[in-house]
Amino acid sequence: MIRLDKYLADMGVGTRSQVKQYLKKGFVTVNGQPEKRPERKIEEHADTVCFRGEPVHYAEYEYFLFYKPQGCVTATRDKVHKTVLDYVKGASVKELFPVGRLDIDTEGLLLLTNDGPLCHALLAPGRHVEKTYFVRAEGAVAEADILRFAEGVDIGDEKRTAPARLRILSSGKCSEVLLTITEGRFHQVKRMFEAVDKKVVYLKRVSMGPLHLDETLKPGEYRALTEAEVQALKNVERTDTC
Ligand code: URA
Repeated sequence: MIRLDKYLADMGVGTRSQVKQYLKKGFVTVNGQPEKRPERKIEEHADTVCFRGEPVHYAEYEYFLFYKPQGCVTATRDKVHKTVLDYVKGASVKELFPVGRLDIDTEGLLLLTNDGPLCHALLAPGRHVEKTYFVRAEGAVAEADILRFAEGVDIGDEKRTAPARLRILSSGKCSEVLLTITEGRFHQVKRMFEAVDKKVVYLKRVSMGPLHLDETLKPGEYRALTEAEVQALKNVERTDTC
């Protein structure tokens, strides 16, 4: 059970004080009856709440697939740079946060949610959720690099990286590859390429677990996950791949 004013505020109808004004003005009905009391208790999944005649469904958690552009930071607030949350101002539920981190100059798939348990499960080191990056690097990536990444490389941490899959798309003065890793160490992809004497000049995450970067999205755009995508993520959460 939840107070009516909190229910409406959580769903993005307005701030708590705006919602109280809307209630006073008679914009809200509960189960077809006008309701003006902010303290009225609502059963989230049984009562029908309407605002200006439109049903307002309660979603405890929200999930967004965001195409992070370059130039913004993966943080919820920052004094200098735009944050990923500055792009999703219209999303209804408050307190969204990014799942994992991409560097300021990295673009691509970033999951935004307010589902803390799912976020922890996806980021848990033992979970080994696959993340695939499209990488453009200076230097000719070769078969030898595929083998080195498959064995794990020394990037200066206590432990070598876990085995990673490298697929060469083109090789030359500048090479293009897809790299799949299962960890999320600081600057991991850039450091892995440095370890094999190459320099990453462009980095884009194209998938994370069952989620793929939506080609219909442009950098800076986002969309809600489908039910099937949310379910697929929850299956990752339940599948122990240790
Ligand atoms: N690895 C990196 O080096 N940077 C990122 O943003 C993500 C993975």
